[in-house]
Amino acid sequence: MSRLDQMSGELIARLDSAPDLQALEADRIALLGKQGEITRLLKTLGAMTPEQRNVEGPQMHALRERVSSAIASRKAALEDEDLQRRLAAETLDLSLPVAPGPQGSVHPVSQVMDELAEIFGDLGFSVATGPEIEDDWHNFTALNIPESHPARAMHDTFYFDRTDGSGRRMLLRTHTSPVQIRTMQTQKPPFYIIAPGRTYRSDSDATHTPMFHQVEGLVIDRGITLGHLKWTLETFLKAYFERDDIVLRLRPSYFPFTEPSAEVDIGYTMVNGRRVLGGSEGWMELLGSGMVHPSVLENCGLDPDEWQGFAFGCGIDRLAMLKYGMDDLRAFFDGDLRWLRHYGFSALDVPTLSGGVGA
Ligand code: PHE
Repeated sequence: MSRLDQMSGELIARLDSAPDLQALEADRIALLGKQGEITRLLKTLGAMTPEQRNVEGPQMHALRERVSSAIASRKAALEDEDLQRRLAAETLDLSLPVAPGPQGSVHPVSQVMDELAEIFGDLGFSVATGPEIEDDWHNFTALNIPESHPARAMHDTFYFDRTDGSGRRMLLRTHTSPVQIRTMQTQKPPFYIIAPGRTYRSDSDATHTPMFHQVEGLVIDRGITLGHLKWTLETFLKAYFERDDIVLRLRPSYFPFTEPSAEVDIGYTMVNGRRVLGGSEGWMELLGSGMVHPSVLENCGLDPDEWQGFAFGCGIDRLAMLKYGMDDLRAFFDGDLRWLRHYGFSALDVPTLSGGVGA
């Protein structure tokens, strides 16, 4: 074997196993570049005798050809490997959603408010709102609670230093009942409204927080009776708790703004030592209600001989606890992410009557 043949064999083997494109390019320069080994070899032809050149020339050119094509084919192979690697690494999963799913969760209080709007909306009620910072007249006086009335002391009211036009201190509304007044003053009867929202009383333990939520209901029309009140509450609570065996008990009570007034208890049954709503083995107090007091109608410019109605007020947090099984009200307002993930609802979990309001 000639010296060049041996050299060719070694070179081709090295080029065929060049690890990457940079190493291959370095080899190309070292062999075929201006100062390259093969280039230098070819330059020796000039100093040879014609006979020598006739023998060596074709061998050297053949060597250069073989090396060039070895470089070209290794280069193609390495480029192809590179492409395959990129194709594998840069895959695009076209089945993935374009945007990530909704983050966070809907607070149970918001969820219950949506459920209430859905249930009462179906009964023809609309949702009314009022300010959380109220004046004395809307929160108390117009609701038939005059200044000397003991019911004011029952409410543990948060007062502001700021006063209203009549020199009375502004306050955080202690119930949603002032929305009754605002609705009757600004709109024309008949009224079929609910008013969910925040309420405030200076009170704090496992079942009371200084800020809590109520939903007010108000119906004013002609010929409204206590029977309408009971039917409305039963229909509402059966839909809300998604049970047909809900039993209510109306107990005579007292609120200055209703006459007669009734505290409404909901019946439960004991199942394996646990209270389950439905039936009437025992009773739990749920909400306050009554027929709107004629003085309240008059305070809002309505003639009690023409318009009658009922109202009720119910704790939303309590409704949520009873349906979804939380036992400490304070946790509702701690902002603990673990609690929210556990009890919260998906943003896409919109309550509908057809889909089940508690979906
Ligand atoms: N406002 C009353 C409360 O907070 C509840 C209520 C509302 C009672 C409407 C009767 C009618 O306790």
